Amino acid sequence: MMTRRGFLKSGLFASLIPSVFPQKTSNDLVRSRGNPTVISTWVQGIEANKDAMRILRKGGMAIDAVEAGVRVPEGDPNIRSVGFGGRPDEDGHVTLDACIMDSTGNAGAVAFLQDIKHPISVARKVMDRSDHVMLVGEGAKRFALAHGFKEENLLTDESREEWLKWKENMSSTDDWGPNDNHDTISLLAQDKKGNLAGACTTSGLAYKIHGRVGDSPIIGAGMYCDNDIGAAGATGRGEAVIKTAGSFLVVELMRQGRTPQEACEDALRRIIKRKNGNPNFQIAYIALRIDGEYGAAALKDGFKYALNSSGTNKLIDVKGMLS
Ligand code: GLY
Repeated sequence: MMTRRGFLKSGLFASLIPSVFPQKTSNDLVRSRGNPTVISTWVQGIEANKDAMRILRKGGMAIDAVEAGVRVPEGDPNIRSVGFGGRPDEDGHVTLDACIMDSTGNAGAVAFLQDIKHPISVARKVMDRSDHVMLVGEGAKRFALAHGFKEENLLTDESREEWLKWKENMSSTDDWGPNDNHDTISLLAQDKKGNLAGACTTSGLAYKIHGRVGDSPIIGAGMYCDNDIGAAGATGRGEAVIKTAGSFLVVELMRQGRTPQEACEDALRRIIKRKNGNPNFQIAYIALRIDGEYGAAALKDGFKYALNSSGTNKLIDVKGMLS
């Protein structure tokens, strides 16, 4: 049995310090009010933030803002990793994943949804109109159609051409191919009352196996919101995010006293460790705490996030932890 002295010397004690003696507990955090904030992943976040902020500035709710925000890239065929125009799976089907969560802990999600342009609004409907959290595939589509969503072809000519080239070469690493083919948008917002919400939506990994679902529609993986602490969202290789319950972990680390930045970094460290220090994919997290503090971290260089707060909407470069 380990002696008390041995325990103290072993380092186990030190590793428990942050959770036993949090630097800043949820009781210490003062909710930010009156200064709405939106934070979202990648360059498409800039336009998404604008629509979200328009709602917040008028005194609207964070949940309405996050939905409106991510609908922008979902409807834009030039954003090739989300919604309409998103890259298809290996069979040429555009299959979409999304989730949404509000300040009361209510949540909705859809996965493997086809032919519906705005999966985030279907996820919202699941949240508002059913007592379920997640609908998938044909059932999600039937639910959407029943609630008045329109059936549409989401595969644009550009995405189809690219997919055909991939099929001919069976490679996504040629110079014609997508460089980073899963630039999911996660968007977090805090409204004037200080309430939080989050949304996450994607067409997932390009040319994935038909039926593959990533982290984005999974509450706690692609996104998580706890109105007592903060919200977090993910982008990048979904499998690794799911296996570490990524966004939930970021929020729980903030609960233990980490700053949003530290929480994002610590959550990524778990992935780095599991991949023996050398993950061959990109993952990034964004986080927004109830006191208005925000942060982000990425495994590799190239990740940017969009921040809209105090009258400015800017893109911020994140240096990769492994760079
Ligand atoms: N993060 C998006 C996905 O892996 O599907």
